[in-house]
Amino acid sequence: MTKTYRLDDGRQTLVLASENDRLPQVVYWGGSLPSGENLGALCAAHQIDVTGGMLDENPAVSLCPEAARSFQGQAGLMLSASDGRPLLPEFRLHSVEEGDALRFVCQDAGNGLTLTFEFAVDAQTRIITCQTKLDATQPVRLHWLAAPVMPAPQLAMDMIDVSGRWCGEFQLNRTPWSAGIRTRDNRTGSTGHEHFPGLMVPVTGATNTQGECYGFHYGWSGGHTMIAEELQDGRRQVQWGHAKDSEIAAATRFETAPLYLTYSDTGLNGCAVSFQRHLRERIVTWPKPDTPRPVHYNCWEAVYFDHKWPVLKDIAERAAHLGAERFVLDDGWFGLRDDDTSSLGDWIIDARKYPDGLTPLIDHVHSLGMTFGLWFEPEMISENSDVYRAHPDWALGPQDQILGRQQKVLNMARPQVRDFLYDRISAILRDNPIDYIKWDHNRVLPTPDAAQTRGTYALLDRLRADFPLVEIESCASGGGRIDFGIMARTQRVWLSDSNDALERLRIQHDAALFLPSAVTGSHVGPRHCHTSGRTLDITFRAWVAAQRHMGFEMDPRELDTRETEVLMRVTQWWKDNRAWMRTADILRLDSADPAVIAEQQQDPAGARFVVFAGKAATSAQISPRPLRLTALDPAAMYEITLANRDELAGLSRGTTALKERDLVLSGKYLMNHGVTLPWSFPERMWVVEGTRL
Ligand code: DGJ
Repeated sequence: MTKTYRLDDGRQTLVLASENDRLPQVVYWGGSLPSGENLGALCAAHQIDVTGGMLDENPAVSLCPEAARSFQGQAGLMLSASDGRPLLPEFRLHSVEEGDALRFVCQDAGNGLTLTFEFAVDAQTRIITCQTKLDATQPVRLHWLAAPVMPAPQLAMDMIDVSGRWCGEFQLNRTPWSAGIRTRDNRTGSTGHEHFPGLMVPVTGATNTQGECYGFHYGWSGGHTMIAEELQDGRRQVQWGHAKDSEIAAATRFETAPLYLTYSDTGLNGCAVSFQRHLRERIVTWPKPDTPRPVHYNCWEAVYFDHKWPVLKDIAERAAHLGAERFVLDDGWFGLRDDDTSSLGDWIIDARKYPDGLTPLIDHVHSLGMTFGLWFEPEMISENSDVYRAHPDWALGPQDQILGRQQKVLNMARPQVRDFLYDRISAILRDNPIDYIKWDHNRVLPTPDAAQTRGTYALLDRLRADFPLVEIESCASGGGRIDFGIMARTQRVWLSDSNDALERLRIQHDAALFLPSAVTGSHVGPRHCHTSGRTLDITFRAWVAAQRHMGFEMDPRELDTRETEVLMRVTQWWKDNRAWMRTADILRLDSADPAVIAEQQQDPAGARFVVFAGKAATSAQISPRPLRLTALDPAAMYEITLANRDELAGLSRGTTALKERDLVLSGKYLMNHGVTLPWSFPERMWVVEGTRL
């Protein structure tokens, strides 16, 4: 007896089936099926054949493949009794709740286990959210619990997952599918620079703008394991869960984080837009949704730990003059923090640097029309701190562990640690008009521990409940903690510690597979980049920052007259456009020139767009190749203009029309032939604005 279930969101259909009350399996995930599709026939059609060398029946790739049912691939659940005895459960479907969402409750009475799978679809964002929960009548030790296990298409040559490093986040790895397993095992205990929990599986031939693609994101900040396996019979499964063995204590309840899924028939961009919209509209909670995203000024690269009132006062004035609307005081304001060897945990204003507290600086910042933000790194502790001297046992891991940035991690699972942090942070927030926290996290955990992440979430949730108007930025040495779990509690990410616009251009481009502009902080860095040593022109630095949530991080005292003028102009451009760009989709363009990294930000109604075409290197050919646009109405006419024609280089001598005037062209032409841009130096950005007529 086969029972079938179906979810639709207008773009994708998901069909699940349970045979003879076994665990359900996904029998179809892809483009929308007709409403009259016979799901019984579809299940029958899904069966693959059996031949010599195979079992007499193919064990299902169920929502949690069971080792006890002769499944020869990676099982979806590994656990043992609290005495260490391995458990090999066999579940039966017990009950199903159907409707706009699906909930399957499955039981293994012999072992006292209940496994629950939940699926919900969002017809606006086209994201399927699913989760697995395990309940046990007796405490059990969990080694591995997969979120609902999904099939991957067999007509895909490659998978694209995401790695990275400090100042080089969001590097896309393209790995060919082949027999066996590709594992991404994040043992850092946090999301990390190295292992963003996302995956794209493009069906053969898919590009950014066309073809089919499947997208996955695991919304958890404690480090994940991803398993992409091709079985000997060719079937492919993708599993996601908390990092293996990161549930340290035996318990009677476990759950995975939400797994976010989407299918696109408009290339990688279809998945990217779904993730961007879902994160912006469904995950992030905005304290003041109607307030424009303010231009930031962050003083880190200007003064580091050297906080001096006259300097900060001067810098604040210059930042406001440039157009900043929020001033963020970075590391160095508390304890005796003159460098990174001390004081984490001593969240008390340093009276040497701020004898009258933060009030004079905050008042000054306010008088300049800016709001005030403050840096914290709550989960960390310096051995050289009063708190550590009083509570050495609050640190996570062995006493003689290798330190990271000379610091240890606080054990966030301990309620008294969370209470202490809450008291210190809330006192500062109560005593000072602060509307923004930059929440940092600058080292990996000594060992992965899911309880640590739950503790951090609990502290964030408590602070947010009591200070609902304070925005929080997730910064972890730059992009070290970016995922939908942390983003449910924060509103911005510091994408990278690299303020090198050339590196940022690439990082932003690849991060846009998952992240919308509204949450992605991007700052204009110093003329000579502190982390790469590169020297980049102000035009390029300014436009790369204007692609996302804009800010400045250089010492404004270094700016000459031209740099000041350019920065003020681009900032004004960003302010003039930020209202519609906040909800724009970022569409990555398929550039014919590998030296050009380009994107089209388009309002969801398609009435206007802006193309950022960044020239990351000198091109192989001498003239620019046309840049094909995407997602336009082929029959509509668009007026396009080069927003920064004033940046034309003297070596550009031809008659490329956009140099002189605006053009009216059809969507069909712009998508089939593309925009022909003027010649430019490398490390420059062309900005093309378009309006549908
Ligand atoms: C790492 C962050 O990414 C930087 O922006 C800065 O806040 C430093 N930490 C401060 O220690």
